[in-house]
Amino acid sequence: MVDSDLSLEFLRVVEQAAIACAHTMGQGDRHKSDQVAVEAMRREMDSVAIDGTIVIGEGERDEAPMLYIGEKVGLANSRAGNGPGWGRLPQVDIAVDPLEGTNLCATGSPNAIAVLAASPRGGLLHAPDLYMEKLVVGPSSKDVVSLDAPVADNLKAIARRLDRKVEDLVVIVLDRPRHEKLVADIRATGARIRLISDGDLSAGIAAAVAGSGVHVVMGTGGAPEGVLTAAAMRCLNGEIFARLVVGKPEDEARCHAMGIKDTKRVYRARDLASGESIIFAASGVTDGTLMKGVRFFGDGIRTSSLIMQTHPHRVRFIDSIHVDPRPDVKVRF
Ligand code: FBP
Repeated sequence: MVDSDLSLEFLRVVEQAAIACAHTMGQGDRHKSDQVAVEAMRREMDSVAIDGTIVIGEGERDEAPMLYIGEKVGLANSRAGNGPGWGRLPQVDIAVDPLEGTNLCATGSPNAIAVLAASPRGGLLHAPDLYMEKLVVGPSSKDVVSLDAPVADNLKAIARRLDRKVEDLVVIVLDRPRHEKLVADIRATGARIRLISDGDLSAGIAAAVAGSGVHVVMGTGGAPEGVLTAAAMRCLNGEIFARLVVGKPEDEARCHAMGIKDTKRVYRARDLASGESIIFAASGVTDGTLMKGVRFFGDGIRTSSLIMQTHPHRVRFIDSIHVDPRPDVKVRF
């Protein structure tokens, strides 16, 4: 079991990543935005009382200098962390996306977030950086949809469960040429569509939160984001149905190298994020559906975050004020 007290430790990790890249909002340099988020997340992670391993990160060691897959993180592995007792710190697997929506941050568009998920060792799928077909729904629709059902059938079933007409549903789809047929199929049902330029992870979270105005996410996006979405679904009782897109023989080889034997398997949240307990932490970078972006107000910084855990089952929306270290600073409601 991951200690639930760690959720607040992970809160500061995502807050610091969000603050760092929010400084670069609208600067048009997505790589710089990502880099500062990675550096801040990596730095903060070293003070968390865990023996952590990155299982979803910025790529392999030779591609990424920090937060690479397999990197050891947390106090047990930091330079400070060689005191007595450090050896007994909990072993935790961590999936990170220090800046989900690098373009969204670089252009100042909505829904860029800093994210991580944690579970006891072995509890998060080591997904290769391939595409993944996804269908993400909230708790009331999870038993009535299927990744292989026709789009119209899935939307009718969701509408029935939500006690509304198909025309009253909002479907989020990444705006990509590969989704031309999907979008045409959705339009034929009369459902409303929100085409997004990036960020299917925050869209998936919104689909599982009643009242967000989002009812389902459909289409193909990144597999690492799929595992993070699954971790969020475990905490929100929502569901993701997902299948890796394995086109080339080398994709198949990459899957096998990461321990995935059946590349055609349809995964659900419990398969992608199978850990007995899960912690999920996200902080808004730019304003979004569920979280506000980072606000710099002279006397400090305000962040808005979503911290969730399965044990005890708790979902917290947290508004933090990071007060400037001056004695005369005012805190506003
Ligand atoms: P980045 O944060 O790496 O820029 O990814 C954003 C994103 O839009 C994800 O939300 C999504 O899963 C994926 O990229 C889609 O990939 P592509 O842009 O190649 O279609």
